Amino acid sequence: MAVPVLAIETSCDETSVAVVVDGVEVRANLVASQVDLHRRFGGVVPEVASRRHLEVLNPLLAETLARTGLSWQDLRAVAVTYGPGLAGSLLVGVMAAKALAFALDLPLVAVNHLEGHIYANFLVEPGLEFPLICLVVSGGHTDLVLVEGHGAYRVLGRTRDDAAGEAFDKVARVLELDYPGGPHLERLAARGDPARLPFPRPYLEEGSLDFSFSGLKTAVVYSLRRARERGLEVNRADVAAGFQEAVVDVLVEKTVMAAERHGVDTILLAGGVAANRRLRERLPERAGGRRVVVPPPALCTDNAAMIACAAYYKYLRGDFAPATLNAVPDLMLGEDRY
Ligand code: KG4
Ligand code: ZN
Repeated sequence: MAVPVLAIETSCDETSVAVVVDGVEVRANLVASQVDLHRRFGGVVPEVASRRHLEVLNPLLAETLARTGLSWQDLRAVAVTYGPGLAGSLLVGVMAAKALAFALDLPLVAVNHLEGHIYANFLVEPGLEFPLICLVVSGGHTDLVLVEGHGAYRVLGRTRDDAAGEAFDKVARVLELDYPGGPHLERLAARGDPARLPFPRPYLEEGSLDFSFSGLKTAVVYSLRRARERGLEVNRADVAAGFQEAVVDVLVEKTVMAAERHGVDTILLAGGVAANRRLRERLPERAGGRRVVVPPPALCTDNAAMIACAAYYKYLRGDFAPATLNAVPDLMLGEDRY
């Protein structure tokens, strides 16, 4: 029998609701972005984000279901992101999902947001075979993950300071680009020469699969400042291209190194930064014949369809959350806290 799962995602600044059947057929995947709301602050304001989730979630639930042609009674499970993320934002989704599961007498499935990002790949390629290497690059995370089976993760490396998306956003701000910076920086970089300003590639110790982007960000800031002090004209597109190339080089090299070390033939990309075109083109070039799977950009950035997909596999395992489920802002990948 078909398993339609309704999922709610409110971990940061996008309110999203989706219905996915059997972890693969996306019946609806609506995202209400709060970008306009946070733009004047230059970043997500947690209090403002949770209040907006509260306002839009109920209408979004109704609209999503209406688009699927299904009724509430057709659903088989209610899924929700319960961490990591902003506490107040997560709570809005968790409370709504608990109420829905209770009212509809359906199992509640609690999903880790990062697991959701990884499962965006199963939405587009349900037949993926383990083991897999996944690079999860978002606004809050830069993790290299060995996926050994459904729900079985080994984090091989992670960032020691700024996440890749955070570095993109901070450098974009220094370049006076619009919020949120990542996609704008990518657009500016397309007009620049990445070789004009060879920024450092932070590889850390020999063989390390960890990341560190804060030094690179500082190098960009200093180079701009030095140029201004000397009264030199700065080509912002070259700065953007040089920075992007440095980040992409490090991400790609370490991902391929992880695949080599663990003898893995398939590499996945996940998270908002996976929408970056340069990263999407460089990884397959460097992957040495390995298969590279990259979800379409709309499934890389925060959305509830990826949560519904991850939830489907938990549903098959009978991994349900209790009615006492709470938000876990610092939830780690591979960890259950319910
Ligand atoms: O996964 P996501 O939507 O939210 C989090 O879970 O953090 O990722 C958002 C991050 C932001 O830092 C955003 O600037 C970055 O992904 N991002 C990009 C691009 N699109 C989104 N960074 C570089 N190039 C892009 N095209
Ligand atoms: Zn995310």
